[in-house]
Amino acid sequence: MNSPKHHEIPGRVTAIAGKGNLPALRIETDSSNAEIHLLGAHITHFQKNGGEPLLFMSAESEFEPGKPIRGGVPIIFPWFGPREGLAAHGFARLASWDLLDTIVLPEGSIRLTFRLPAEDAIAAEFRVTVGESLAMELSVTNTGASDFTFENCLHTYFQIGDIHQIDIAGLQGTRYLDSLLASEFTETGETIRFSGEVDRVYQNTAATVEIHDPSLRRTIHVRKRGSKSTVVWNPWIAKSKRMPDFGDEEYHQMVCVESGNVKANAITLAPGEQSVLKVEVDSTPLG
Ligand code: BG6
Repeated sequence: MNSPKHHEIPGRVTAIAGKGNLPALRIETDSSNAEIHLLGAHITHFQKNGGEPLLFMSAESEFEPGKPIRGGVPIIFPWFGPREGLAAHGFARLASWDLLDTIVLPEGSIRLTFRLPAEDAIAAEFRVTVGESLAMELSVTNTGASDFTFENCLHTYFQIGDIHQIDIAGLQGTRYLDSLLASEFTETGETIRFSGEVDRVYQNTAATVEIHDPSLRRTIHVRKRGSKSTVVWNPWIAKSKRMPDFGDEEYHQMVCVESGNVKANAITLAPGEQSVLKVEVDSTPLG
């Protein structure tokens, strides 16, 4: 019963061969369309009808089992960043998730539920609602007999017009770890602007973040619940060149504003406990 075909909804949810011939789902609502690959339960596309795609996807991305997809929304779990001898950013983005259920909600949005294949002592589900906005919910339950500590993050790559033109608001006064300098600072500016590589983990913040994009004439909103960390990342020139699955010039058109619980904000669940991370993203025209 786990074949995505069983969960098709005519004209709304279609099982397709996605990029790299990998199994994927195409979702169409009256207001938007989206694509989700089962590899990583990875949202690879979301677009409101008549608008620009909201999510950035690298033209150089691999679409191969065992390799992460570069762009869209990688699910980072159960650890964030490198871990010796193990896959960077955890195994969830490399696993083929099961599609459990698809449903059309009364107002016309479509909700899909995915499950991470059985892991010892962990049950993880990812719920995606496609409509006027893109809403995501990652729930993790400790099904084991001892405490379980983990990091999670919905690593949203956003499509922007020009990295030199955008600014990011919502993080003023927030303490952050600058991963490039390995030091902590407090964000003093009302907005963040980009003139070089940025790789920061903002801690203890539940704030909504806005990306103002004058070139694409829109503001992207990132709203979250159950998340204390916000990661802001753009690789700039040298790191772009080092990443084999990312174009040298693509840093101009993307920015990551990621929502989760990482580093000092890692979560510990007692046996039987559950945590839910909710992130909703959408865009409005720039006034
Ligand atoms: C970000 C990290 O979340 O992900 C960066 O802060 C990292 O340090 C980036 O480079 C991409 O990671 P990866 O493993 O997908 O190349």
